[in-house]
Amino acid sequence: MPRIVVDGRAIDAAGGQSVIEAARAHGIDIPHFCWHPSLSVAGSCRVCVVEVEGRGLDIACNLPATEGMQVFTDSPAVRERRREMLELTLLNHPVDCGICDKAGECTLQDYHYAHNGAASASGERKVRATKFHALSDRIVLDNERCILCSRCVRFTHEVSKSHGLGILHRGDGSLLRETGDGAFARDPYSDNVLDVCPVGALLSRSSLYRARVWYLQPTRSVCPGCARGCPVDLWHRKPEWRLNALDPAKNRAIVRVTPRDDGRPEGPWICNKGRDLAALFERPRAMQAMLHGRAVPLDVAIDAAADLIDSSKTRIALVSSWASNEELAAFKDALGERFTTFVKEDHRPLPGETIEDDFLIRADKNPNATAAAALFPVRGKPMSAAPSGQPPDLVLAWGEGFDARGLPDGARAIVLDAYGHADHARADVFIPLSIQTERAGHYTNFQGVVRAFDACFDKPASVADAQELFAALAVGARVPA
Ligand code: SF4
Ligand code: FES
Repeated sequence: MPRIVVDGRAIDAAGGQSVIEAARAHGIDIPHFCWHPSLSVAGSCRVCVVEVEGRGLDIACNLPATEGMQVFTDSPAVRERRREMLELTLLNHPVDCGICDKAGECTLQDYHYAHNGAASASGERKVRATKFHALSDRIVLDNERCILCSRCVRFTHEVSKSHGLGILHRGDGSLLRETGDGAFARDPYSDNVLDVCPVGALLSRSSLYRARVWYLQPTRSVCPGCARGCPVDLWHRKPEWRLNALDPAKNRAIVRVTPRDDGRPEGPWICNKGRDLAALFERPRAMQAMLHGRAVPLDVAIDAAADLIDSSKTRIALVSSWASNEELAAFKDALGERFTTFVKEDHRPLPGETIEDDFLIRADKNPNATAAAALFPVRGKPMSAAPSGQPPDLVLAWGEGFDARGLPDGARAIVLDAYGHADHARADVFIPLSIQTERAGHYTNFQGVVRAFDACFDKPASVADAQELFAALAVGARVPA
C-alpha cells in the first residue's frame, strides 16, 4: 500500500489507485471533468492537473500513486494551468446557466468560480453548434454546452455496451452524436448519461425545464420496477417551495429519479424504467373505500372486512409482492393464522419492456417477491381449493394483478389496492391503500439485499396504511384516523 503525501498530508493509497482516487478516498477532491470513478480514464480535460515533486505537472487521473510521491494540488503552477484549462473549456461555451437544467449541479460552473472566475479574454465570436439535437426520444443534446469529456461515450461502450454514442470531427468542430443504427435509442440504460455528463449538455425530455434543482429535494427510495431493487433518489419539491397558485398536484409530483450510489458492486446505474417511476407511481389512484361498488367511509369498509373474516370458514389470501417487509410481517402477525396465504405476482413485463438481461434488469417485475415467498412458502393454485380440500369462501386479494374472474363460485372478496381498476366495484369490500411514496419500509431483493425507502409525501386521509389496517382487522378495531 504506497504512502503518498498530498498537500503535506500523508495518505495510504490502495494498490493500483491513481492519485485522484487515493486523494478522493481520503476526502481530498481534485477537480475533474472527464474522469468518472466507474469509467475508464480518458485524460482529455486536463483540469485534474497536479504538481509532483521532481516531475512537474501531470494529470492526477492517469497518475499511479507510488511510494513517497509528494503531490501538490494547489501550487502556483497548478493554479495557473487549471485556470488556463478552464478558460479553454469555456471558450465556446454559451454560458446560458440561467436556462440550463444543470445549473446548481454543474461542475463547470462550480470550478469556474473556484478556479478561474474571470470573464473570457477572447475577442472572437464563439463557435456555434447545434442546440437541442435529439439523441433519442428520451434525451436531447445541447452541443454548445458539451465539453467533449467523452464520459457518455465511454458509458455506452463500457457499461451499457450499446456503443450508441460517438464523437464526430475534430477540434472546435467536434460533435457528440448517436450512431446511425438506433443503438442509443434502444439502450435500456441510456438515461445514465444524464448523470455522468458533468455539464448541462445532456437533458432529459421528461424533466426538461420542470424545476430548478434547488427547488427539489431527494428522498431515499428503492425502485420497485423489478426484483433487482436498485437504490434511487426520488426528487420532488421542497415544502418551502410549494406552489400555491399553480396546480397543487405538482407539489406531490416526482420530477426526476436518479441512482443512489450505495457502493453496490453493480455501480451507480439504473435502467430507464427506474427513471420513469413517476409514471408508474402517478397512475390513477383508488381513493374511495367501497362495499359492492358503493362508496362508504374507510372505517365502515374496515368493519365490514373484519366481519367477513370472522364469518368465513375457508380463507385464502393473495399477498402483494410490492408490499414492504414490514407490511408482509404485519399481515403474517395479524392474520397469518386465519388465512392460507399465497404470494401474488402484482406486475408482469409490459409490452416492449426489456424482460431480462445480464446486467441489472430482472424478469420478475416485483420488488419484494423474495421476502414474500420466505414468509409465505405455500405453493400451488390458490383458487382451486385450500389445503383442507374445501373451496375458499373468502378471498383477500392485496395489491395489483388480481383477476376477479378467477374467484370461486360463491366466494366473497376483500380487495386491497392502491390503484384504480374497474374490478374493484365487484368486490364485497374494497379498501384503498397508500403507495410507496407515502410510507417508509424495506424491500429484500432477489440476492437477499435489504434496502430502505422513505416517504416523500403524507398519505391521503381516505386511504389506509396496510400495517395499521392488518392490526385493525385482527382485533376488529378501527384504523386510527
Ligand atoms: Fe428498477 Fe429493475 Fe431497472 Fe433497477 S434494474 S432500475 S430495480 S427496473
Ligand atoms: Fe483528468 Fe480529465 S479528469 S484529464
